[in-house]
Amino acid sequence: MRRAAVTAVGHYLPEDRLTNEELSQLVDTNDEWIRTRTGIIERRILRDKSKASAFMAIEAGKELLAKRGIAAEELDVIIIATITQDMLVPSTACLVQTGLGAVNAWGFDLNAACCGFLFALNTAASFVESGRYEKVLVVGTDKMSTLVDFTDRSTCVLFGDGAGAVLVEADEEGYGVIDSALYCKADNWEALCIRGGGSLYPPSEATLADGIHYLYQDGRVVFRIAVEGMADVASEVMKRNGLNGDDVRYLVPHQANQRIIRAVARRMGVSMDGVMLNISRYGNTTAATIPLCLHDWERELRKGDNLIVAAFGGGYTWGATYLRWAYDGSAVAAGESPLQSAPTAT
Ligand code: ACO
Repeated sequence: MRRAAVTAVGHYLPEDRLTNEELSQLVDTNDEWIRTRTGIIERRILRDKSKASAFMAIEAGKELLAKRGIAAEELDVIIIATITQDMLVPSTACLVQTGLGAVNAWGFDLNAACCGFLFALNTAASFVESGRYEKVLVVGTDKMSTLVDFTDRSTCVLFGDGAGAVLVEADEEGYGVIDSALYCKADNWEALCIRGGGSLYPPSEATLADGIHYLYQDGRVVFRIAVEGMADVASEVMKRNGLNGDDVRYLVPHQANQRIIRAVARRMGVSMDGVMLNISRYGNTTAATIPLCLHDWERELRKGDNLIVAAFGGGYTWGATYLRWAYDGSAVAAGESPLQSAPTAT
């Protein structure tokens, strides 16, 4: 059976760090509140206004191509998961295609908020499983600092900028995407939205004055549905595939809140040793959180490891994928491990 496997990972993180201390100079917050309520210690910010999501995606793509040892011309399709596309037209995928020199690839942007990477990974998997394409680049990239109101303490502490990329290729040995459950619905969407800038509320003086181009979130409402949504869908995929917590090498959760992740892991019966958790270093980078986890843990991963990838995001969008890892991370080029070079999660 032809499956679709992840065969390489790349990433990009801006150099500039924004600490909880610095945020407490901007709004009425403090390090203790942010750490205990979210697990975040710092996040990265792309301060250069001339660079945005496409730039980060291109950098992540370049790293991935170098690691895999292939030329950009070999890519067939580029799928960019983002809610912070550089412009409405051209798509970020067009900018990335040209930036990488992937002259034989077509591509498109996919908007599913924090579930964007998972939806894009599954779309890529279908393209590859069908036999129609051999090499699909999937990138989650978001410059969240452009959507955040830095006078709103309830949201500005949560988000960061970054990009992560994976290559999806055919596998005949039983590795790759085994099963997925994916969902979306708009019930109660008002609790998490960016209302302005689309065709219903195009930019105007009034929309600017109302601040509806910023991300709005009723955290308490979203917290509850995020825990339920992620735990239910992860359990659904595990049950369907006869997996219990001990069979799962890693839970790879979207990084919105450490408390959400702990609650989901508990419900899945997965111990925290088996959870990829890097929210302390990067905050919520929306479509980039999951590939950034795969990047940080890549060297720990072994061929055949069972991963449950789970996400919940605005829309609402949510889902889980059972991914059987296809290569040994120990073979990845030596150097400082991302897991050893940053503040540790609390
Ligand atoms: N510093 C200090 N106090 C704060 C801050 C802050 N930065 N932010 C809020 N508070 C206050 C509130 O005003 C409130 O005060 P009150 O009790 O006097 O009214 C108190 O802290 C508690 O506020 P809550 O909103 O109840 O805090 P909560 O514990 O729920 O944490 C958070 C907020 C972190 C946002 C949490 O609700 C959460 O993680 N929600 C889900 C996020 C999520 O999963 N989003 C989906 C993905 S994102 C996407 O798709 C783009």
